[in-house]
Formats: sequence, structure tokens, C-alpha cells
Amino acid sequence: MARIGVIGCGYWGPNLIRNFVTCPETQLVWACDLDEERLEKVLRPYPSVRQTTDLEEVLKDNGVDAIATPVHSHFPIAKACLESGKHVLIEKPLASSIDQGEELVNLAEKNNLRLMCDHTFCYTGAV
Ligand SMILES: NC(=O)c1ccc[n+]([C@@H]2O[C@H](COP(=O)([O-])OP(=O)(O)OC[C@H]3O[C@@H](n4cnc5c(N)ncnc54)[C@H](O)[C@@H]3O)[C@@H](O)[C@H]2O)c1
Repeated sequence: MARIGVIGCGYWGPNLIRNFVTCPETQLVWACDLDEERLEKVLRPYPSVRQTTDLEEVLKDNGVDAIATPVHSHFPIAKACLESGKHVLIEKPLASSIDQGEELVNLAEKNNLRLMCDHTFCYTGAV
């Protein structure tokens, strides 16, 4: 069972949250967003999910295996997650430059962690 923290609960984050809640192989443990009101609204149907505006709280939770980051600040957040020993599922684009993307790939390899990048329909069976 992968224990998940979702970072960024704007337009796309709630789609990740809905799927991680319903998937039998994942448990949504944390949701994080800088906007507290938004966070409360998105998590209203899921009262058992812990919420925070501080990414550090999620990084400190050793029980969380994977973090999905649907935010524009992908590189620093993904880097912090990988440095904290978390697997990362990141929404497209992976990063803002090839250099940043390569640094994330190298960091994941060095730490023996999974780094996945999602794209529209990329993991949809029919497509
Ligand atoms: N896979 C797909 O089909 C698909 C579709 C739409 C969007 N996306 C991707 O999802 C990502 C997010 O897009 P969106 O439309 O949801 O954006 P959005 O602006 O609606 O949401 C981003 C959220 O992240 C929060 N945030 C920003 N910085 C943060 C931080 N440091 N810590 C915690 N929360 C933070 C913001 O408060 C906001 O609520 C983008 O990378 C976009 O390309 C993917």
C-alpha cells in the first residue's frame, strides 16, 4: 500500500486526490496547499486526510512513500521530496528546463527512488 501526500490542490490536484482515495493500492495521508481555504474545501469529503500548508510537515512523515506535485514550482518541491527519500509522481511538465529535469532524474537514480511524470492520458489503458 503506497501512502501518498498530494502537494497542490488547485485545478488538477483534486483529480489526483479522488483517484488516490478510491484506488485500493494507495492511501491518501496528506494534502498540502498554500491556500488554506482551498485545502479545506477540497478535503471536506475526506475528513481523515491530514491537511497542511507547510510542505515540511509532509516531508517529515517517514510513513509517506510517494508525493504528487501538481504545482508550477515543480523543481524545488520534487528535489526536496527526493532528498527526503520520497518517490515522486509529478504532473507535466517535469521541470522548467532540461538541466532541472536531468538533475531530478539523476537524484532519483542516485537515491534509488521512483520519479514519474504524468501527462494527459499517458497512463490511460485505451490510449
Ligand atoms: N496531467 C494532466 O492532464 C494535467 C491537466 C491539468 C494540469 N496539469 C498540471 O498540473 C499542474 C497544476 O496545474 P493546476 O491547473 O492544478 O494549477 P492551479 O494553479 O489550479 O493549482 C496549483 C495549486 O498549487 C498550490 N501551490 C503552489 N505552490 C505551492 C507550494 N509551494 N506548496 C503547496 N501548494 C502550492 C496553489 O495554491 C494552487 O492551489 C501543472 O503542472 C499542470 O501542467 C496536468
